[in-house]
Formats: sequence, structure tokens, C-alpha cells
Amino acid sequence: HPTLAPLPKGFLWGAASAAYQVEGAWNEDGKGVSNWDKFVRIPGKTFKGTTGDIAVDHYHRYREDVQLMAELGLKAYRFSVAWTRIFPDGRGKVNPKGIEFYSNLIDELRKAGIEPILTLYHWDLPQALQDEYGGWESRQIIEDFTNYSIELFKQFGSRVKYWVSLNEQNIFTMLGYRAAAHPPGVKDEKRFYQANHHASLANASVIGAFRTHVPDGKIGPSFAYSPAYPLTANPEDILAAEIAEELNSHWWMDVYAWGKYPKVAWKALERKRVVPIIEEGDAQLLEAGRPDFMGLNYYQSSTYEKNPLEGGVGQAEMNTTGKKGSSKDAGIQGMFKTVANSYLERTNWDWNIDPDGLRIALRRIESRYKLPVLISENGLGEFDEEKEGGIIEDDYRIDYIRSHVKAIQEAVTDGVKILGYCIWSFTDLLSWLNGFQKRYGLVYVNQHEEGEHDLSRIKKKSYYWYKNVIHTNGEEI
Ligand code: BG6
Repeated sequence: HPTLAPLPKGFLWGAASAAYQVEGAWNEDGKGVSNWDKFVRIPGKTFKGTTGDIAVDHYHRYREDVQLMAELGLKAYRFSVAWTRIFPDGRGKVNPKGIEFYSNLIDELRKAGIEPILTLYHWDLPQALQDEYGGWESRQIIEDFTNYSIELFKQFGSRVKYWVSLNEQNIFTMLGYRAAAHPPGVKDEKRFYQANHHASLANASVIGAFRTHVPDGKIGPSFAYSPAYPLTANPEDILAAEIAEELNSHWWMDVYAWGKYPKVAWKALERKRVVPIIEEGDAQLLEAGRPDFMGLNYYQSSTYEKNPLEGGVGQAEMNTTGKKGSSKDAGIQGMFKTVANSYLERTNWDWNIDPDGLRIALRRIESRYKLPVLISENGLGEFDEEKEGGIIEDDYRIDYIRSHVKAIQEAVTDGVKILGYCIWSFTDLLSWLNGFQKRYGLVYVNQHEEGEHDLSRIKKKSYYWYKNVIHTNGEEI
């Protein structure tokens, strides 16, 4: 496009995954039990009771997977480390087999010219720490998460330049402590804000330690940002959207970027008596833990409407049905509720398809925080069908990614600094609550909720399309 600025040379065209969703080998080579290993065994928690025990067997097939990445021409691969492979009980003695696995993976990637992006925490907490002191609800987690991270900095700091601290702190705390859809399955506003505060402190502490151990590296959190839109020009809706932006986004991003909670949101939560207890030294710790970039996980925007205190809607159950139109409005009484946006198409899981929302998210981050952005996740979860002869024609995924790459080019033209773009996901993988039916990969994996499958990998149409995008540095999309 003649009026769009070209993407910078060295742009990190990437793809991403997370340990629990791809590795499998849940109890091999000395790995300890994580909160997810336990949670998926509680009846009714996941789609058809699907677990990540095998997942897509990346633990045994990582060489083949990296080979597929190399063939694609991928410039970066974002993966997470399972804490329980390194410290089976969360702390104590290092498990050398765990180090060995990630060391081999990193070497394999580097040999193929692929930049590793290492996520320290993508939701799989050692169950031992949950049992011992309640995981994120105790301040002890700050020290344990920092020690675990330092071990990884020491082991891999010379080979890994890009690091992600916490993946989607807003999502794992909200789903874990407010919606009870993720472990530890709690519904309690006060505990949610307190656990989240500890996570913010742990995040800052790890970034502080990173400066000493990996002085040349770059680190940031990955935030799940869904920019807020008002449904109408009615000032009540505008206010609802502003409150949502403050409570759902600034509450985290302000803390990352500035070490401070947003004042107006703080006041509102103080009135509800749910603000976290802040101890002496917390403010200094948060302020010292500034990231090098904002990691952005973008899937969709959210549209808000006023929501009365009396008779308004509250929390909704998670929609894991895969049936369009089956999700319900949800919100916080007296503040806002999320509603459908008639201008936007939706996926079968009712996620809005909104590439302009990505540009808006990027512009807002640039305006408010002036930090470079690493788009650490973006992609489309859909049913895929394997046709005769191993063909997967996922044109809908290509359309989704194409429109989002264009939004990135527009944002770069606007002046946003973007380091890279990681498609979620490289191979198909386990969708935490949705089993294997909701697929995101560029590479199809023959794995399903029920029965035994050969886990073979098949390149989807989107794989070939993305290969050319990378090859032309985004000139041909
Ligand atoms: C992000 C997570 O929230 O979204 C991923 O970081 C997750 O781990 C992805 O898989 C898609 O979510 P879902 O629920 O569709 O699998």
C-alpha cells in the first residue's frame, strides 16, 4: 500500500505457544504437578474433561516442530517454561532434566535462526505452592517467583534476548479469583485484587532482577488488552466504557508502566472495600520494575453500555460451546456491561473480529505509555476441517491475520513502535477450557478430545500464506 510505512527491518515475525498447551509429558523427567494438572481432573471443568497430559506432545516432538518453523521462515518463537519442570515443588532443588529440555529447544531455535522469546509464567503454577501457602494469595510468591526466574536468567540469559514476565496477569487473576473458571476456582473480589497485587509485585521484582542478570536483554509483561468502546454517544455509555477501560486495562498497564494504580479506579474500588492491602516498600518495588516493552495480546475489542446498580447484569458463565450467539451480556452492576457490537462479525465463540481495534489498542498504548509494543499474541480460534489428502483450507484464518497485519502497518504509519508480531499459535494446541476443537495453529495437529490420535502435523493453507508474508516483510499480504 503506497501510503503505509514499511515495517522495520528485523521485525520479529513470530508465532507463540504455552507450555501446558503444547508440551504434554505432564509427569515425565521429574516434572512436578501444576495447578492445571490438578484442575483439569475436577469433573466438569474443561470441555469433555480434556487435559494437557499429552497436549500436542511438543515435549517429544520439539525438533520436528522447530523444523517446521524453520521451513516457514519464522523469525521468532514465543514459548513458556513450565515452572514445575525447573522446580518440581516450586522452589528448592533444580531439576536438571527440565533445564536440559529448554536448553535444547533454545539451541535448536537459534541454529535455525529463530529468536527465542521466553515467557516465565503462562499460568501453570506449581501445585505445591498453592497447597503450601495459597499461591498468588501469599506474599511468599514474590520471592519464589523471583528465584525461579533468576535460575532461568542464569541458565539462558546469554542465549535468549527477549523475555515475557507474566502472561495475561489480568486474565489468570480474573478467571482464577473472580470467575472461578480457572484454578484455584475462587469467586471473591477482595481476594482477586489482593492476589493480583502480589502478582504485580512479583512481576516488578523479576524485572528488577533481570537488570542485574541479563543487562542486554529486553523484558515486559504480556497484557490481554481489549480496548473499550461505548455502545452509543449517550454520556452514560461513554462513562461506562471509560470505567471499563480504567478497571479492566489501566489497572494493570499503569502499574506496569508507571508503578501506580489509576486514581479514579482506586477510589471506586475503595468505596467497594476491595482494594488490596499495600505494605511499606510496595510502591518503590513497583516503580523500580519498569518493562522495556508492553507485550500485547490482542484478540478483540469490547463494547460497553451502562449497567444499573439495581437489576443490572453481573458475572456470566464462560461460553465454551462454540455456538455463535450463545454468550450472555456480563458486567459489574452500577458500572458497565459488555454487549455485542453490531458493526463487527463474530467467531463461533462470539469473539469480535476487529482489526481496527488492534490499531486502536496500539495507538492508545503509544499515547499513554510511550513504550514499544511486542504483539505477543493475536490469532483466530475456529473449527478446522481436515479434508481428504490432509488439506486444511483455513481462509477465514488468513483473512483474520491479513486484516490484523494491515492494522499493524497502519499503526506503524501512525508512529507506534512495534517490535514484532506473534501469531497465536504455531501448532494447534489445547485451548484451556475448549479442548482441541477450538484451533488456532498455522500447523494442524491430529489430536482430539476423545480417542487416540497419531498427533501428526499438517501445514494449513495459512502456513503457506504466512511464509510469503514473512518473506516479503509484510509487503505481500
Ligand atoms: C490467551 C492466552 O488468553 O488466549 C492463551 O494467553 C489462550 O493461552 C488464548 O489459548 C486463546 O484463548 P482460548 O480460550 O480461545 O484458548
